[in-house]
Amino acid sequence: MANILFVDDEENILKSLKRALIDEKYSCYFADSAKKGLEIIKNNEIDVVVSDMRMPEIDGLKFLQQVQAISPDIVKIIQSGQADMYQLISVINTIDVFNFILKPWDIDLTLKPIINKAISQAKLIKSNKELNKELAEKLRELEIKHFRLEKLTESLEDSNSVIITIANAVEAKDMETNGHVNRVAYLSQKIGEKLELSHGEIDILMKGAILHDIGKIGIPDIILNKPGPLTAEEFEIMKTHTIIGENIIKSLKSFEGIRGIIRHHHEKLDGSGYPDGLNNGQIDIYTRIVAIVDIYDALTSDRPYRKCAMSQEQAFTILKNDVKKGLLDKTIVEILEKEILENPNSNFLTNSLMFR
Ligand SMILES: [Fe+2]
Repeated sequence: MANILFVDDEENILKSLKRALIDEKYSCYFADSAKKGLEIIKNNEIDVVVSDMRMPEIDGLKFLQQVQAISPDIVKIIQSGQADMYQLISVINTIDVFNFILKPWDIDLTLKPIINKAISQAKLIKSNKELNKELAEKLRELEIKHFRLEKLTESLEDSNSVIITIANAVEAKDMETNGHVNRVAYLSQKIGEKLELSHGEIDILMKGAILHDIGKIGIPDIILNKPGPLTAEEFEIMKTHTIIGENIIKSLKSFEGIRGIIRHHHEKLDGSGYPDGLNNGQIDIYTRIVAIVDIYDALTSDRPYRKCAMSQEQAFTILKNDVKKGLLDKTIVEILEKEILENPNSNFLTNSLMFR
């Protein structure tokens, strides 16, 4: 319910107001001086003030100036006689007055309609204020979210820098495979897109592709860069790069999604791969993609044990043969072949690691 304060030094006017407004749907306060009026304002939530202009001690202008200072949202109405016109103009020019009522007034025809309008105005001011407050809170929340997002992006950039640094360290050690991780990541991304993987899934795929051989950091150089084929014993050591790789990243929560790619990129669909001999249903899509691109790039690049890189056609003959033997995923080999046929040099175009 709205609260209205009437301030007038003429007792008769206050009495007639009391009588006339007793049944109205708002609470009325009455003060016979500006001083008493200010006290009421300080102790109550007043929505509308109707003040006389000529009052002893503090006049209407000074009174409303103080009202404005105490509670600027109160809707202010002045009642005045014509003799006060110059003072009225100075009030209107000084204070935000909603309306003025010329004395003598008719309560029902003049006063009540103006008071009702003033109450609506007070409600509007209140609701605007609440909306502004809500808006400010939402903006504050947005600022906090934006700040958190910035921090998250920074940490993501840091984590991507770590990945690139590690991948570069692996390549520096395994000199003959220079550019291998770039090419595997690039082609894996292309296959992921053809398979309509989501942005998040392609991000996992690329990180896994870049770091799939991270475990080679733990393989002795003499084995890693040995010209010619490895002995059975050396090959057993080489196979451990999958487990070493997983151990390196397993404590990093942000790399959780790529553990499988690192550990299982040498598994075969028939269970003949390493280190766990997983079968078809146990190997996820990321690992299948990286495994095939890894083999393709190894076949088409010079390696310490085979200095003459194969042609793309020869590589696909081998891959398709492995599909027939039930070792590799047929669909992924087909997508890779299509990608290479459409863009024969695409895997050599990228020299920098990019994340979506
Ligand atoms: Fe590997």
